[in-house]
Amino acid sequence: MYAERVLSGMRPTGALHLGHYHGVLKNWVKLQHEYPCLFFAADWHALTTHYDNPQGIEQATWDMVIDWLAAGVDPNQATLFIQSKVPEHAELHLLMSMMTPLGWLERVPTYKDQQEKLAGKDLTTYGFLGYPLLMSADILIYRADKVPVGEDQIPHVEFTRELARRFNHMYGREPGFEDKAREAVKKLGGKKARLYDELRTRFQQNGDKEAVEQAKAMLNEIQHLSAADRERLFGFLEGTGKMILVEPDCLLTEASKMPGLDGQKMSKSYHNTITLRESEDSVAKKVKSMPTDTNRVRRTDPGDPARCPVWQLHQVYSDEGTKEWVQQGCRTAGIGCIECKQPVIDGILREQAPMRERAQVYLDDPTLVKNILADGCEKAREYARETMRDVREAMGLEYH
Ligand code: TRP
Ligand code: SF4
Repeated sequence: MYAERVLSGMRPTGALHLGHYHGVLKNWVKLQHEYPCLFFAADWHALTTHYDNPQGIEQATWDMVIDWLAAGVDPNQATLFIQSKVPEHAELHLLMSMMTPLGWLERVPTYKDQQEKLAGKDLTTYGFLGYPLLMSADILIYRADKVPVGEDQIPHVEFTRELARRFNHMYGREPGFEDKAREAVKKLGGKKARLYDELRTRFQQNGDKEAVEQAKAMLNEIQHLSAADRERLFGFLEGTGKMILVEPDCLLTEASKMPGLDGQKMSKSYHNTITLRESEDSVAKKVKSMPTDTNRVRRTDPGDPARCPVWQLHQVYSDEGTKEWVQQGCRTAGIGCIECKQPVIDGILREQAPMRERAQVYLDDPTLVKNILADGCEKAREYARETMRDVREAMGLEYH
């Protein structure tokens, strides 16, 4: 059976933190056992906002990939690569740019949002406007079925779907497609042809998806149908033409609830993070200096965990017994805050221990990481070349 393909990318922005682990990487680690997965470092995407200072991107990429490996992403299960090492992304981006309406790009919500957020930076560039199109190329070039992303990226995947539809509609039709499709319907013979027409109408007029399924099942059972006719009949059924590019679905990653050291969401821009491979001393120091319930001024004052960022971390790291101990001890002033923080420190260190161990292997021998990425790039390129052959063919650029 055809296995659905998963693809996701991450911008190299330096050391990853526990928010990335809980929000993204844990999910990747799970997905790699369920689907063929492709994960890549989106270094060109980093350039859309860091074009004026690209020097750090390479180091950030190595560090990020080591963090992936540390988190348990397994290069024997998933394909790991660097975007700029698969230049086919750029070719697809260019070809699609010819048929992408400017208005579609201007209407992507992150376009104006980001410009406002990063007001100190001149983002009135061609590359920044084209950012969602580059992301579409990343996805479509692998004919990915599922794209795990956070909520903020949903509009980009939706944009990708529309673009794939437009592309297939525009280039997926051979000359005389409709006539050839009608010919193929006739060849089905009276009864089946009538049923096909009826199911097609049901879908096109009422959007009846079951009718599509039924028609496809019928077509799949016909032995004497040529592959070209089958393809035409599938395309004619849904009005799409031939499917050259695949419309991807979002695999929505639950928004990471990972709290930072101050109770806000953990994020680099809030300076409240603990990195994946942060030293043990630093973890202890950071947790020990976390703010607590501001009403608990003295050790003898009772507190309320609901008003304390440490409690939020207990919810990530502590078992029921410990949480009960916190609730009870905090409210009765039975425990002190320093005491209360220790299980959190222990929990984080326990989570980090295997990561630190896995990362050490790659830090000791950086050629291992380079080899993993070189192999991954090679594999990714094979997929990408295959898609580009079909795309060039459809656009009349094969030069046979
Ligand atoms: N735009 C994504 C982000 O900023 C990163 C990204 C680039 C991506 N290309 C992609 C994610 C393709 C999924 C698929 O987080
Ligand atoms: Fe927060 Fe724990 Fe102190 Fe209560 S005892 S205020 S939960 S750190």
